[in-house]
This record gives sequence, structure tokens and C-alpha cells, in this order.
Amino acid sequence: MATYKVTVTTGEVLEAGSSNSISITLVGSQGESSKKPLRTLLYPGKAAEFTVRCERDLGPLVLVRLHKWRLFLEDAWFCQDVQVTAPGGRSYRFPCYQWLEDVTTLELREGAGKKPADDVLDILKEHRRRELAARQDAYRWKIFAEGWPRCLDVGSIHELQSDAKFSCERGSNFVGFLLFQGATHLLSGFLLRHTSWKSLDEMRSIFSKTKGRDIVPEYVARHWREDTFFGYQYLNGNNPIVIRKCTELPEKFPVTPAMVADSLGAGTTLAEELQAGRIFIVDYEILEGLPAGTIHGRQQYVAAPLCLLHQDAGGHLRPIAIQLSQRPGPTSPIFLPSDSEWDWLLAKTWVRNADFYVHQILSHLLRTHLFGEVFTIATLRHLASCHPVFKLLIPHFRFTLHINTLARTVLINRGGVIDKGSGLTHEGIVLLLQRGLEKVTYTSLCLPDDIRARGVTSVPNYFYRDDGLKMWEATESFVTGIVAFYYGDDAAVRGDTELQAWVMDIFTNGFLGRASSGVPSSLRTVAELTKFLTMVIFTCSSQHAAVNNGQYDLGAFMPNAPSSMRHPPPEEKGRAFEQHFLDTVPEVDTTANILVALILLSSRLDDARRLGQYPEERFTEPEPRRLIRDFRRRLEELGDDVEERHRAAELRYRYLDPRETENSISI
Ligand code: FE2
Repeated sequence: MATYKVTVTTGEVLEAGSSNSISITLVGSQGESSKKPLRTLLYPGKAAEFTVRCERDLGPLVLVRLHKWRLFLEDAWFCQDVQVTAPGGRSYRFPCYQWLEDVTTLELREGAGKKPADDVLDILKEHRRRELAARQDAYRWKIFAEGWPRCLDVGSIHELQSDAKFSCERGSNFVGFLLFQGATHLLSGFLLRHTSWKSLDEMRSIFSKTKGRDIVPEYVARHWREDTFFGYQYLNGNNPIVIRKCTELPEKFPVTPAMVADSLGAGTTLAEELQAGRIFIVDYEILEGLPAGTIHGRQQYVAAPLCLLHQDAGGHLRPIAIQLSQRPGPTSPIFLPSDSEWDWLLAKTWVRNADFYVHQILSHLLRTHLFGEVFTIATLRHLASCHPVFKLLIPHFRFTLHINTLARTVLINRGGVIDKGSGLTHEGIVLLLQRGLEKVTYTSLCLPDDIRARGVTSVPNYFYRDDGLKMWEATESFVTGIVAFYYGDDAAVRGDTELQAWVMDIFTNGFLGRASSGVPSSLRTVAELTKFLTMVIFTCSSQHAAVNNGQYDLGAFMPNAPSSMRHPPPEEKGRAFEQHFLDTVPEVDTTANILVALILLSSRLDDARRLGQYPEERFTEPEPRRLIRDFRRRLEELGDDVEERHRAAELRYRYLDPRETENSISI
């Protein structure tokens, strides 16, 4: 007779316990136990201990099977792990961290990633085949829109697997937050009782109802007209990835030396400043010709501006010339800081409107949310739970399928919040994202390469770059350790068929097989694997935080990030005045609707997990656990640096503070 001591632990998650019937089977190289019922209620965070007796020793344990059964009421169970002590004293741990629903059997493999003995290879191979077949059945690709990265094939959040859904805690927090903020903002909008604005000050009244968290919006309301704040946002705002060094002016943007002489100051020329690398450009060509829609039956307008910026002697970045179309000519004047106050302000506001689209649809939705979903689905479809890359990445995909499914049903769908509140039609949004995907490069997804490619290595006060590079390095160092531990050499990477199928799936379904993107379709070396994994984790954590967390801060005072424009771009100078400006930016209810979305999307909800927090102990060996501790220590240090840097500053750059960066795209 062989006696096994078994401990089954229920996860510490709301509603994790179960009163349904659970049994367990132990599987060893020499045979299987019979099915042993637990005969106990399972409570969140609690361990249930019992014994399994077998006629003879099962040999080294390979798998455990958990069987869930119910007579009447369904009571889903979230299992954390199973630990078994064999008769000889050897102990095993089988990590689970999954929901069991209805009548089901779940098979778990031991956590340690050591090379299995020859006599269990067949059992493990079969286990892997079954696990991946089940996942490929549960997580299928779908085309949401032609030319977009593929997404999960579900119609609503109700069709999601339990493992992909928000936790109960997060779900109720999300709904509560939405109801409160929705009511507050919409009521504010309603109380104004008119559609257009009477003054700029009135625009503050919408967000001033939620005092306490509105320090940055108040700052924005005071400084939004200033050229230095406009320039600052290209470095440290919501969209810090579009500015690039300009060494030669494009023909389509015929700025003359005389036009910018005043802005550059005495003692220098445009040619000298271009040569010195102090001229920068942002080109919104990607917006050209996109269809504009109507809001409340009234036509809206979209421009594709160009903006030239100069880094002055004090290190500040200022706009020095703006053209609101891609076609120069008499009806597309180049606006300058020396123009009338309202001409210049309106030109800058058109640029901010263009930046709203590019930020939301490309930098935020495409380059973080949709790519994050692609990484998630490919990982679930191709990597078994015991695969080290699965263990490494899965915490970085927490809730991503849920938030993206929600976004597709209420935010970016036809008739959704973005469709209704932005100047682009739904077709325009679809087209913009298509164009964006066609232009994505692997270089632009890897921050150190991106910074070099945009020529912005030495711009002062570029906190996004400085903090981002530190976050990249910390992530890379962690990934390097994990990869070195599991992959002895390049041949091990090349020979990992699951891994190769995974990266090919990302290339095919995420980047639509476009080789010119430079995104790899196979991984040949340890170095290539390390870089790719670093990019995946960085995209899902740091990069998303950088483009997500400041949405309300910088968008709450609406003229700083208007979602639509109600008059066409000016074709001549001298026509702008205050009321025209007020009648051009979005009206009251559009503003209120967009603000509800922005405050929700940049909020921090309960049950968030910071970067480097891995409460689910999927790695059981000491070395990966040591690497995790080192990673967290490094992130703590980086958080202290951010705190220290801005101790006395009125406006802090904190969108890449590790303490406010989540592991995954969950909002
Ligand atoms: Fe987001």
C-alpha cells in the first residue's frame, strides 16, 4: 500500500471557493490512482488536506487530474495549486491558477521545468496535446475589421472564458466607478443646459466637480495656451512617440528662414538649427483624407497638419510653424507664433485634435491594446502551461481580453463612445488603424531602437525616454535571466517548436505577415528571444502605462485634446476670434461623454497588479524566483528615482513610475 499526502489550495480570490464535488487522480510513471473525492467545502485562500491510498507505488508523479462535478447548483472553483508528498517523502507542486466550471476535468503538470524522464515522455506529450487542443478551441482568431490585427472570436464579455474575465472585485469596482463618474460628468454637462460654450472658463466646470484628483487638469487649464507646454506634451504627454528630429524640411512644408527667424532668436538661422539637431517635426500625414462624420447631424472636420518645433537655449521645445494640411498653397497658410493670439491658438488646437486621433487610435489602441491581445491569444494557443515563456508572460495578459472585448462592444464599435464623440466616422477610424498597422515597425516597438530612429537621444527633459529606457533595461535584465535559465544555447531556441509556432502566429495574425515591418516570424537565437520577450512585456506594461495613465490628466480640460472640430481648418489668417474658437471645439455633451471614457480608462481600479508583482507562483525553481525578487527590487529603486526627481516640481512626469505601472493592459 502506498499513501500520498495531498494538499489542495483554493485561490485567494472573491468567490473562489466551491461547494461542488471535486475529486483528484494522481498520475505517475508506473500507473494512476483511483479517483479520490475531496468530500469537503473549499474556501478562498484555504488548503484542504487528505490522503490518497494506492495498491502500489505510482512511480515519480507526472500529472494530477482535478474532476469537478455538480448535482444541482453550479459553483465555480478557482484552484491555486495541488501539492503532493509521495511515500518516500518526495514532494511535488502542481500550479493551477485556473477556474473549473460545470462538469470538467483539468489536468495539471508539475511546476518544475526540469527535463522529464524518458518513461513519462509519452504521457506528457499527450497531456500537452490535449491542453493545447482545448485552448485552441477556446481561443480562436477573428477579423474585427479588415487590415486590423486579428482579435479574440467572441461577441461580448459574457462569452469569455472565466480565466479571461475581470475578477468579481474588479468587475464591481469598474461598474461602480463608471456609474459614479458617468453621473457626475454627464450631470455637469446637463447643468450647463446648452450645446456650445460661453467661455473657456466654463470648460473647467465639468471636471471641477471631482476635486482632489484634478491637480493636473487644473494645471493644464492654466498653461494650455503656452508654447512651452504644447512642446512639453510631445515629450511627456500622452503621445510621446511621434516627435522626430528634422534635418531637412519636407517640400510639402515650405517654412522659410524668415518665417521662423523671430522664434529662433538672434544669432542663429534655420539652417544652423537644423544642422545642430535642434529642429523637430511631427507630421500627421496619416490623417489625410480620412472621412469626417457628423455629431448631432452637424458636419465635423479633420485636418492632417504638420508642426515644426525648436529646442531653445533653455532646453524647452516650442512650436515655431504649423501648416494644417499636407498641401501648401494660398489656402493653407503656415501659422506662426507671431500671428494673432487666436490664429495661433486655433492652429495649435487643430494639431492637438490631430494628436487626439493618432494617440487614441494608433499609440494607445493599436500599439498597446490590440498588440497586447495578439500576444495573449498566441500565447494561449501555442504555449502549454508548463512552458517557461507561458509562465513568464501570462501575468502580463491579465484582463486584456476582457477590456478589449468591452472596448469592441461599447467604445470603438459603430455607434460606440469614440464613434459618437470623435470627428472621424467609424470608417475613418477603421481606415486610420489600417494605415497605422501598415506603418508599424519592429524598431518602433523596441524603445531603445525607437529613440535612436527618431533622433531624440539628446533632447533635454524627455522623461518618457529616460524613465522608459530604465524600465526597458530592468525588464530586459529580468528576461535575460529567465531565458538563460531555460535555454542553454541558440539551438535550444531554434528547436523549441511551440515557441516558433507562437512567434509565427503573432507575425501572421498580429502583423498580417508583413515582412517589411521587421517583426520576426521566427526566433533563431537567445538574444532574439530575449529582445522579443522584452518587447512583449514592455508593450503590455510600461508602454501602455505611458500612453494610458495620463488620458484624463491631460484631456479633462478639453481644448487641450479636442476629440472633434466643428468648423473647417482656417484657410487664411486673421479670421479667428474667441467665439469662433468656442464654436469650433467639441460642444458640451460631446465633451462630457468623452471625459467619462477618459476618466474611466485612466483610473486605477481595485485588484490591479503592479509591474513585477507575481502572486501566482508559477515558477517553482529557486532561480526564477530570485530573478523576480531582483526585478522588483530594481523597480522599487526606479520608483524612488521618479519620486526624487520631481519632489519640488509642480507638474510631475509619473506615467512611467513603476508604482503606477500595471503588469498588464487591464483598462
Ligand atoms: Fe488602455
